[in-house]
Amino acid sequence: MGAQIGIDLDKAAELLSQGKLVAIPTETVYGLAANGLDASAVAGIFTAKNRPTFDPLILHVGSIAQAKSLCSQWPSAAEKLANAFWPGPLTLVLPKAEHVPDLVTSDNPTVALRMPNNPMGLSLIRSLSFPLAAPSANPFGYVSPTCAQHVADQLGDRIDYILDGGNCAIGIESTIVAVTDDNQVTVLRLGGLDLASISNTLGYPVTESLSMHSNPQAPGQLDQHYSPNSAMVHIHDLQIEAIFEDVQTHPYHSRGFLWFSKQQAQQFLDHLNDGNRASWSLLPARHYYLSDDHSDRQAAMNLFGTLRQFDKDGCMRIYFSWAPDDGLGRAINDRLKRASSKVVH
Ligand code: TXA
Ligand code: MG
Repeated sequence: MGAQIGIDLDKAAELLSQGKLVAIPTETVYGLAANGLDASAVAGIFTAKNRPTFDPLILHVGSIAQAKSLCSQWPSAAEKLANAFWPGPLTLVLPKAEHVPDLVTSDNPTVALRMPNNPMGLSLIRSLSFPLAAPSANPFGYVSPTCAQHVADQLGDRIDYILDGGNCAIGIESTIVAVTDDNQVTVLRLGGLDLASISNTLGYPVTESLSMHSNPQAPGQLDQHYSPNSAMVHIHDLQIEAIFEDVQTHPYHSRGFLWFSKQQAQQFLDHLNDGNRASWSLLPARHYYLSDDHSDRQAAMNLFGTLRQFDKDGCMRIYFSWAPDDGLGRAINDRLKRASSKVVH
């Protein structure tokens, strides 16, 4: 029988105190939580997710004081960012305190810390005497969950309880930055907080250290990640002929189109008509739009649920185009890039 979905905070707290696994709501994505100071509870997370132990976990805290107790340095830039954006979609990577288990940090000398902003998730964390280690609550490499049912669909039989805090308000994982003692701030993962907000708060620019390759500074930044089962094929204006050929060879029911917005789909259609290409009607398939008003926030919120929907539909091939590359669009494009980096045949 799968884990129960419910809203019982006491039960969630009790299970976590016993070293068990509970999925928790955050404003970014659902997390698969365990007592972050209990190495054997943390080991359960890696097993349930099938996650390699070289990929470290974020510790979720309920206060700045708790965050400070988990690291050995708290530079003024960390203080500034935590005051400005916590609770919220920002993770700070800092030198770790000795008592943080090495399994949490994958033997790194640093620890990742975040205070999430879902009311239910946050009150759970504040009721506990320990931080919660929590990666996204999906099998390793698959799309992150943005509602309780997504967690139940895939990890229901491997965990003890799913705390239901509704749909995730941001829908894409936190932005991760490393902060050094000279107050340099380096972005390790794009996410739910845009970079302009961070540098505006600091009063100086952030450095970007983003990589599509495996095991750079953010070890979890594997180039293939967040992938639905469907193959994802990027639609590029210059490849329209190729896309048409591809579409003909894949059956109607197995294909779908993922657009940032209706407006973007319309531009594509106009382009086809301009060039006297075959008409849109040659592409009957399911079409999903991440946003109905061309908004990056709405698109981020819908991204992972929509990718899952293609899989539910039995779709084998998703044609997609990029989001406008600013604000949260950058994080959306990062996830699309990783989701589509699987070899497509
Ligand atoms: O929004 C989020 O961040 C969600 C929610 C549940 O809080 N969590 C999440 O966790 O996305 P996860 O494990 O799926 O991704 C965490 C990323 C991984 O890529 C990991 O490598 C990186 O954080 N990370 C963790 N500790 C780190 C460290 N000490 N140095 C560099 N990167 C670290
Ligand atoms: Mg993840």
